[in-house]
Amino acid sequence: MEDLIRRAAAIIKGYPPVIALTGAGISAESGIATFRGKDGIWSRYNPEEYATIHAFMENPARVWKMLKEFAQITMEAQPNLAHIALAELEAMGHLSVVITQNIDSLHQRAGSQQVIELHGNNRWLICLKCGKRHRVSQSLIEEIPPRCRCGGILRPDVVFFHESLPHDAYQQAVEKSQQCGCMLVIGTSVQIFPASLMPVLARQHNAIIIEINPEESRLTYEVSDIFIKGKASEILHRIVEEIKRLSP
Ligand code: OAD
Repeated sequence: MEDLIRRAAAIIKGYPPVIALTGAGISAESGIATFRGKDGIWSRYNPEEYATIHAFMENPARVWKMLKEFAQITMEAQPNLAHIALAELEAMGHLSVVITQNIDSLHQRAGSQQVIELHGNNRWLICLKCGKRHRVSQSLIEEIPPRCRCGGILRPDVVFFHESLPHDAYQQAVEKSQQCGCMLVIGTSVQIFPASLMPVLARQHNAIIIEINPEESRLTYEVSDIFIKGKASEILHRIVEEIKRLSP
């Protein structure tokens, strides 16, 4: 492990620009459940009934039951050492952008400035009738489905299944992936397209892929150059410490 941490730190210093692709696992230690696996969100909520745009349009109140639970958890959650380590790497000039599949805003709250949100975020709600944007708050989601003053139903600014990704976020993510010298892939099972494409694009353009996850993924043997098995907070914290040690 020590050797892998040292190698990762040396690569991050030596192969700029370095970017990160993150998934639900980076927020697990902030108390936010991941999607897949035994206790994952999709084990309690069938995505066909709760996560598609059709399900939302058909029965917003039902889908809001899950969204409200998630919104409340994310409003209370705090960034953990992994989010903080990425913000620190950016501040040190060793990380140019975080591409995240997460909607919880914890990267920004940890201090990351450059964040591409591939699946949107749940900070903002949009009125389906008049298009007005509302900052989410406990009081706004007291009654579900929440409504705009105009009477329209509010939806979160997230990407439901069967919806396209925000165009600019997708384009930027592709460009950054094609241009990076190293990509850190942290806390994602890499099962959802097109986020799953990013490490492949990076690899095709000769970037070094460093994967950090307690479990192996479909990338581990096919795409990743270095796989560091473990929790994001511990591993990233140790990498940052090693980079500081190497820096004059
Ligand atoms: P998943 O739930 O599929 O995967 C979470 C990953 O995090 C798994 O590989 C875990 O092993 C890993 N993990 C768990 N704890 C960790 C820790 N402490 N440190 C590091 N890794 C840890 O979540 P995603 O890959 O993010 O999309 O899922 C991608 C997308 O699928 C989500 O954005 C969401 C979902 O359906 C939409 O809703 C559109």
